[in-house]
Amino acid sequence: MTPEELIQQASAMLPLAYAPYSGFPVGAALECADGTVYTGCNVENAAYGSSLCAERIALVKAVSEGHRSFTRLAVIGNTEDFCTPCGACRQMLYEFAPDLTVYMANRRGEYRTASLAELLPHGFGPAALQSGAVSG
Ligand code: THU
Repeated sequence: MTPEELIQQASAMLPLAYAPYSGFPVGAALECADGTVYTGCNVENAAYGSSLCAERIALVKAVSEGHRSFTRLAVIGNTEDFCTPCGACRQMLYEFAPDLTVYMANRRGEYRTASLAELLPHGFGPAALQSGAVSG
């Protein structure tokens, strides 16, 4: 699958976003190691802090279906600027895919590419817990 095709799948999620509070729809498409793609859109809530980002929805859909290895993510906003994943999404993705490639797109489908390691340097992952675990 080309980057453009993955971005197209993310873009197709924009009309499904539930974003009445921010007015800022986001779409995401997450490619699993076996080639399966899970998509997501942001889903907001009247209790604003309960809102969920598009990327984390794509991620939890995939993990809850048995996938734990991911290769690429596309994220897109209806924006002039390239839409970048928020910090919480970077952290959640790092758990499963520290080597993820991320395509960050704008409304025209133009995009920038970065690794998750670039977006979240010195990320805190499962291995970090081992170095500080106290037995007993
Ligand atoms: N949003 C995402 O879905 N992904 C991001 O990485 C950035 C922010 C959503 C959350 C909220 O619904 C809206 O965009 C404005 O922050």
